[in-house]
Amino acid sequence: PLPPPYQVPLPIPRTLKPLATTGGVDRYEITQRETTAEILPGVRTPLWTYDGTFPGPTIEARRGRPVIVRHRNELPVPTVVHLHGGRTPASSDGYPTDLVLPRDWHEPARMNGMHMDGMSGMRDPRAVESRLTRDYTFPMDQRPTMLWYHDHRMDFTAPAIWRGLAGLHIIRDDAEDSLGLPAGPREIPLAITDRAFSADGTLRYPSLDPTLRTKPGVKEEYLAGVLGDVILVNGAPWPVHEVDAARHRLRVLNASNARHYELEAVTDDGRRLDLVQIGADQGLLTTPVTHRTIPIAPAERYDVVIDFKDVKPGTKVRIINRLGSGRTRDVMAFRVTRRTKDDTRIPRTLSNDLPTWRRGEATRVRDFSFRAGRMNGGHGWLIGGKPFDPSRTDVTVRLGDVELWRLVADVHHPVHLHLVGFRVLSRGGRAPRPQDAGLKDTISLRPGETAEIITRFDAYRGRYLFHCHNAEHEDMGMMANLEVH
Ligand code: C2O
Ligand code: CU
Repeated sequence: PLPPPYQVPLPIPRTLKPLATTGGVDRYEITQRETTAEILPGVRTPLWTYDGTFPGPTIEARRGRPVIVRHRNELPVPTVVHLHGGRTPASSDGYPTDLVLPRDWHEPARMNGMHMDGMSGMRDPRAVESRLTRDYTFPMDQRPTMLWYHDHRMDFTAPAIWRGLAGLHIIRDDAEDSLGLPAGPREIPLAITDRAFSADGTLRYPSLDPTLRTKPGVKEEYLAGVLGDVILVNGAPWPVHEVDAARHRLRVLNASNARHYELEAVTDDGRRLDLVQIGADQGLLTTPVTHRTIPIAPAERYDVVIDFKDVKPGTKVRIINRLGSGRTRDVMAFRVTRRTKDDTRIPRTLSNDLPTWRRGEATRVRDFSFRAGRMNGGHGWLIGGKPFDPSRTDVTVRLGDVELWRLVADVHHPVHLHLVGFRVLSRGGRAPRPQDAGLKDTISLRPGETAEIITRFDAYRGRYLFHCHNAEHEDMGMMANLEVH
């Protein structure tokens, strides 16, 4: 029962109301629970949600004002929340074994202290567990940007996100508010995902254990990652959104497990509209950069202004995925309703606090390969030749040090660092692409490519991660421990 494109209205995830805003801290509560929703017309889809919706509710935060989120786990399995792109103390960063256990959870595989069926086969001695609830503290001491929160449970992240455990988290500050960028209804979050459905509306995902309790992983033929044939934006299939003939700010997230997109905006009469990038994963650029298309890998965000001023009212602008074919080429559309006056602007200088680190500042250069390999007698994905093991420290960096990392990929791997943003220094031995501008937390490594990134590890001490954000690769070993000390 797939709907024709551009019929379903684009949902905007609701903004979560704080329970309390005392002592300069905003406190929230989110219940993780099962529900069903009508995603495709006429059928109900069972979902795992943050507070009943997919995507979950959006958290609106202010820079420097801490946010505490109490997560309540009413799902049938352990969960753990990670705020992607957050500068978060390690105790709230959602390490994959820091689980919130549901009521009545007995994990047989743990009785002898082993994750027997786990891909890594190892029990993490430093794991922290709590039952039913956990408070996550986010200092929000970082540049304004759009983050997202999602499940990060060891070995089971991909199916948990697929079932719906993802939501947006936006940080703002006065400087950004005063720029005159499109705001209110003219600022639109777009979380793009792909999913596969059965005829009865249930999500299709090739888990080895569909209860997500014991055996992790997917069937061998999905090693490269799980793709769906239905494109959802904010949880709706190929939606349409009505807009004025004016500038709009699109806050785009690729929340898909494995699908890459190359986005393009095309009018009904075949004109391509400019996509003016104003921000990257970790906030505003110094100056805007105009693109004709924007490639976006899983977990990347692009902050983009598009101007509908010259689009005839009554016509559409389609957002197309140039990497798709058939129905995965369509993403969504904007229907322009009326001409209007527009007093928004895109300032020439967007920000002046973008960190730049020079090569010469790096105290260490490290090399990491991201490649397929053997693990536990089967196929997996390895960093530096090794699959993830929570009991091993892969990299130790000193707090405050600048490091240059060289990353090399066999196939496409979107590589994500927790805790810090980084700059892309080079790609394929050349200058970075225009789309690599700004401060990133995820870099789309293309097949066979080497890229250099540079950052300062300056936020908190503790145990963090870096990993591939193709969620299936991540679950199948492509993750490593990063100790800041
Ligand atoms: Cu978006 Cu370690 O994750
Ligand atoms: Cu990968």
